[in-house]
Amino acid sequence: KVTLVHPSEEVTVLRKLNLEQPDGIYFQSIFRSGRVSETTTCNVCLKAPKEKLCNFTDRYTGEPWFCYKPKKLNCDSRLTHAKGGFNKKLTRMEEKLFQSGVNMKVSIPASGLSNITISPKPQGLFLCNLHSCLTEETNQSIKTKPAGYYYQGVWRALDGTRVLQFNTSTAVSQCLKGKVLHLYGDSTIRQWFEYLTESLPGLKKFDLKTPKQNGPFLALDPENNILVTFRCHGPPIRFGTMPANQARYIASELDSVIGGKDTVVVIGVWSHFSTFPIEVYIQRLLSIRRAVVRLLTKAPGTVVIIRTANPKALTVYETTNSDWYSLQRDKVLREIFKGVNVQLVDAWEMTIAHHLPHSLHPQLPIIKNMIDVILSHRCPA
Ligand SMILES: *[C@@H]1O[C@H](CO)[C@@H](O)[C@H](O)[C@H]1NC(C)=O
Ligand SMILES: *[C@@H]1O[C@H](CO)[C@@H](O)[C@H](O)[C@H]1NC(C)=O
Ligand SMILES: *[C@@H]1O[C@H](CO)[C@@H](O)[C@H](O)[C@H]1NC(C)=O
Ligand SMILES: *[C@@H]1O[C@H](CO)[C@@H](O)[C@H](O)[C@H]1NC(C)=O
Repeated sequence: KVTLVHPSEEVTVLRKLNLEQPDGIYFQSIFRSGRVSETTTCNVCLKAPKEKLCNFTDRYTGEPWFCYKPKKLNCDSRLTHAKGGFNKKLTRMEEKLFQSGVNMKVSIPASGLSNITISPKPQGLFLCNLHSCLTEETNQSIKTKPAGYYYQGVWRALDGTRVLQFNTSTAVSQCLKGKVLHLYGDSTIRQWFEYLTESLPGLKKFDLKTPKQNGPFLALDPENNILVTFRCHGPPIRFGTMPANQARYIASELDSVIGGKDTVVVIGVWSHFSTFPIEVYIQRLLSIRRAVVRLLTKAPGTVVIIRTANPKALTVYETTNSDWYSLQRDKVLREIFKGVNVQLVDAWEMTIAHHLPHSLHPQLPIIKNMIDVILSHRCPA
């Protein structure tokens, strides 16, 4: 199956947007003291002289973050962090380039035979998918194997992981018995928290009175001694309003994890970085990588799982959030965690290979298979 995701003209526009409008998505903070309240714009970088800015660069991780200084209040009075909106400007001509089903995510039918015959033992594997074709340019690498395939709806990994089936809530609970599962990341990781709390009757989500999108969340199964937590990643997280003191970085959070063989740490950070120059993402991943290495040094038995990006349904809104951006970020993610003792959940290939449509939040059958991969790392026997 061949899909045109973007013609090259679109990629030119996407590249330009990313470089020329890095503040295409902006954020807002409310500052308050007594009865005085002011809202200003925030971002990874802002164009203004130092004295016009509040510098909220994280002292611990070095992650940059700035807001315009309020007129009457001081920087310490920042209360909230929230998404602001979109600034990205496309010309009318450019907009025409991004039409779903016209020149974006269009299926390209075969001009001749549309079926292939699979021989029992192909001579030299010549399989190719969006990821391996685009990431590698030599003839040699086009021959790389895919990460796996679905057989009767069940994901079979080709990286040596034996993916087991955890079809019942009892099977999942048995695997997680006595374990702590910490989930960190964006909404695609929150989906896993929701999947677990919805499918395990014994796992009760506490009402921590935290915002629905952001969390943090906590769920406990006292009978099986299972603890599951979710916390979203730090700015530029593009969620609804949250207290500024909850906008925390995964690297700092990881440093407070005790770890060990009963701890599983799951990390998924990608979608909210699309609109920024790639350096912002690289810096974030490097700081997470350092924290993962510290954790694995301190508590070597800890299972660390990284979720990759996945392709989405593209609309014109997605000019801010195109698969093309995700693909670049996905390459960087895989490269940065090479050689670190982490397990990948290859969300990219697990979404591409499935017959269900591409979606930022893949549908349940795909999520179930992803959870099976995680549990297979936790409970290989
Ligand atoms: C912001 O603060 C960080 C560390 O606290 C510092 O390294 C950086 O230079 C500051 N940036 C600006 C623009 O003030
Ligand atoms: C493959 O497609 C051709 C042409 O459409 C058709 O004649 C042939 O029967 C197909 N083979 C199989 C195995 O479906
Ligand atoms: C790929 O293989 C073809 C035919 O064997 C050859 O002509 C071409 O130069 C190769 N391309 C690269 C990038 O190696
Ligand atoms: C789990 O469910 C899948 C899909 O329904 C099925 O193919 C598989 O055989 C089941 N596995 C077990 C161990 O029950």
